[in-house]
Amino acid sequence: MSEPGTLAIETGAPLRIPEGFLLGTASAAHQVEGDLWNDWMRMERREPWRIKDGSSAAVGIDHLHRYRDDLKMLAGLGQNAERFSVEWSRVEPQPGRFDARALRHYADVVATCRELGMEPIVTLQHFTLPVWLADRGGLLNPGTPRLFARYAATCAEAFGAAVRWWVTVNEPNVLASVAYAAGEWPPHRRSPLAAMRAQATLLRMHAGATRALREVAARRGHRVLVSIAHHERPFRPRPGSPAARLAAPLPDYLFNRWFLRSCASGRLLPPVGHGQPVPGLAGSLDYLGVNFYAEERVRFDPRAAGTLFISPDPDPSVPRSSSGWSIDPDAFRRALVGLWREFRLPLLVTENGVADEDDELRAAFLTDHLRAAVEAAGDGADVRGYLYWTAFDNFEWLEGYRMRFGLIAVDRITLQRRPKRSAAVFAQICRSREIPPRP
Ligand code: BGC
Repeated sequence: MSEPGTLAIETGAPLRIPEGFLLGTASAAHQVEGDLWNDWMRMERREPWRIKDGSSAAVGIDHLHRYRDDLKMLAGLGQNAERFSVEWSRVEPQPGRFDARALRHYADVVATCRELGMEPIVTLQHFTLPVWLADRGGLLNPGTPRLFARYAATCAEAFGAAVRWWVTVNEPNVLASVAYAAGEWPPHRRSPLAAMRAQATLLRMHAGATRALREVAARRGHRVLVSIAHHERPFRPRPGSPAARLAAPLPDYLFNRWFLRSCASGRLLPPVGHGQPVPGLAGSLDYLGVNFYAEERVRFDPRAAGTLFISPDPDPSVPRSSSGWSIDPDAFRRALVGLWREFRLPLLVTENGVADEDDELRAAFLTDHLRAAVEAAGDGADVRGYLYWTAFDNFEWLEGYRMRFGLIAVDRITLQRRPKRSAAVFAQICRSREIPPRP
């Protein structure tokens, strides 16, 4: 990997991807595996009307059984990395009872990635919780971080030195706000106070798991790199609006910075805490995993108390995806540079992708965003890799299977995989290690 700041950016010429840069895709167990039982699956069974297309993750894309072929397909694209999550409810189906078969399964996923030349990047929690834990209060139970650390240690023992890159929790800011403040995901709470408690628990989960992963690694004589996958969605005030400029910083801090600054300081920062130290938190980030989808322009909205007086204010001149999110690769570059300048941690783009039903936007989106990530390195940011969300069209949470982020289509009846045009473009980039110039 070259030193940050040493890349010369020429326009009109292909951009060389730095040596050692990780390039691959990302997924999450609940969205692809099928055959699972957790708090989401229970909701999908009991309240199917919550999922827009009436579907569920019961089958997913049957990745649980087809993972070898799927991983071969990804290695065939030329990827040198693959991020996936371990499903906690599968590994620990009852409190304290770990399932040896499930652990062997994930150890084999890790080993298969390695055999195929892909660096495994392992997430321990990606939005779902075991039902037994949800029934004990989930993220509002102060005992959850201890249980999570035990689960993390068990995974670390099972995978050994084969896993170097770990993600403890995925998007704590999104999970806390959507599940505990907006009430849209299990456990459907609508309480800002509960959302703050959930954030505090996620922070302690991250701290405890990091400690556990490092302890196991140190005892067994290898090194690990640990982070969260932080969802970065900068709130940019509407230009020329002093009210928006005044209103945006507080929600921006709470959503985009509270967790990271707490990690950096080792303390539970206000307004969730009062600066009290959290055991194991200081220095708990070896790198920073960044999930970036879009920047959000916002306006002051006196009626939007629930979102601290800001509302989306889409800029009509910026193109949008089928999820309505803005497409602006330069906002991505700025976000990476901003995170680097503030935290001075190596950055790994753990997710970046686009919902695009007919695969019309994806190839350009991917090329432009990957270029922006490499350009951020040219601006001094230490960017170590880029993982596109996602390889296969999959279960997109409340949207069901209708919202498509994948490079590879999956027939919902036969489950047959069919690479899209964008997959060929991605493969070309992976193999040549060059990003084509802007048209
Ligand atoms: C999540 C993924 C999700 C993606 C697209 C991210 O926030 O980590 O699970 O599929 O966004 O909505």
